[in-house]
Amino acid sequence: MDCFVVEGGRPLAGTVRAAGSKNAVLPLMAAALLPEGETRLERVPRVRDVTTLTELLRSLGASVESGVPGMLRIQAPAEGPTEAPYEVVRRMRASVCVLGPLLARRGRARVSLPGGCVLGVRPIDLHLKGLAALGARIQVEHGTVAAEAPPGGLRGGRVFLSGPQGPSVLGTANVLMAAVLARGVSVLDGVALEPEVQALARFLTDCGARIEGIGSPRLVVEGVEALEGRSVRVPPDRIETGTLLLAGALTGGRVRVEDCRPGELVALLDLLERAGVPLRTEEGPDGGGAVEVRPWERRPRALDVTTRPWPGFPTDLQAQWMAFCTVCEGLALVTETVYPDRFLHVAELNRLGAAIRRSGPTAVVLGPAQLSGAPVLASDLRASACLVLAGLAARGRTTVRRVYHLDRGYEDLDARLRGLGAEVRREPDPEAP
Ligand code: UD1
Repeated sequence: MDCFVVEGGRPLAGTVRAAGSKNAVLPLMAAALLPEGETRLERVPRVRDVTTLTELLRSLGASVESGVPGMLRIQAPAEGPTEAPYEVVRRMRASVCVLGPLLARRGRARVSLPGGCVLGVRPIDLHLKGLAALGARIQVEHGTVAAEAPPGGLRGGRVFLSGPQGPSVLGTANVLMAAVLARGVSVLDGVALEPEVQALARFLTDCGARIEGIGSPRLVVEGVEALEGRSVRVPPDRIETGTLLLAGALTGGRVRVEDCRPGELVALLDLLERAGVPLRTEEGPDGGGAVEVRPWERRPRALDVTTRPWPGFPTDLQAQWMAFCTVCEGLALVTETVYPDRFLHVAELNRLGAAIRRSGPTAVVLGPAQLSGAPVLASDLRASACLVLAGLAARGRTTVRRVYHLDRGYEDLDARLRGLGAEVRREPDPEAP
């Protein structure tokens, strides 16, 4: 097991290209179970979740070839195994998004229940409700969801896909992937609007699916007999981009992220600008572009944030924003509405000298703190990134342990940060069991 050793206290400076989006590539890979031909994915990030899903797709009888770096070619036969075992789902919750495609194409699926995680309870009731609305018979037994299409296959249905915390991202993906091959028309309301869901819907349309309302809360899907495989370029990772920009802002440095989509970062960019971080944004007609954060002369002021589904501030940047707030002037309330328990990083940030108190779904951050390096434990993917960021701003050495969390979703984060002038080394963790 590795750890990151961060020697903090120096402003970052440099340019980096955004990697392909982890949260976009996973549903796109699952969608490759649907078409008859080959799906070709470009700009696939080199992250462990992709390796895990590759393993799962292969166990389902799909061929997954990599060859050229950043490219995956996937082809799945109509017949084949239909079970996603606990051993894989346990490692990666997003494995659940093979449920919809398997049910639609192979008429049945067995997927182990993902259970909770460090973000709190993570139910999949909305996924199951949506698939049931398409006629699937669903049984949950012995920790496994067994879903079966009715004779003749899934049929169109109506379903509302929002729960108390808002719409479900992977729930929308799952039900949409099932609806594209169902007989008749499906109306999916209260769907997630995240750019990754839109990318999936556009890809399915390219493959021959009939979907109206992409980008709106209602998707109307007219089922088709079959889909054809197509090529798709994975969109840039808005969470990775946000993380790198915050690393720049927090160290008072200059970081330019190229090949990203500034329009997908509006909530973060608006906050950074209002906090007083100088920004420059370039956006082309296709939405692609670059963002640069520049050194600040006056310490930025802390601003409150509340996480919300798209286009609100993403929960996946909450921990990194909190790290940024620790160096800002004043008091900031960080409120989680998507995962109200997503605060394990608070205690670790406090070990680095931050002054944060949590009360229910809100953390109160008082800055500026004089952060000083210490050993810290990463609890999940984004919390790990937050600790690396705090380490960059801290005086002295911070050791972030359990970086396997980071490897799930960030491509070569240590090398990318080194490219920006940071002193970050990956080392075997001497204290790992
Ligand atoms: C996806 C992202 C994850 C991100 C999250 C919220 C991927 C691979 N993962 O996860 O990085 O943090 O969106 O933006 O894309 N809920 C229910 N019932 C359900 C499903 C979800 O109540 O059936 C609740 C969840 O507990 C949570 C909220 O809805 O409070 C949002 O969860 P959801 O959008 O489903 O998250 P994921 O799609 O799993």
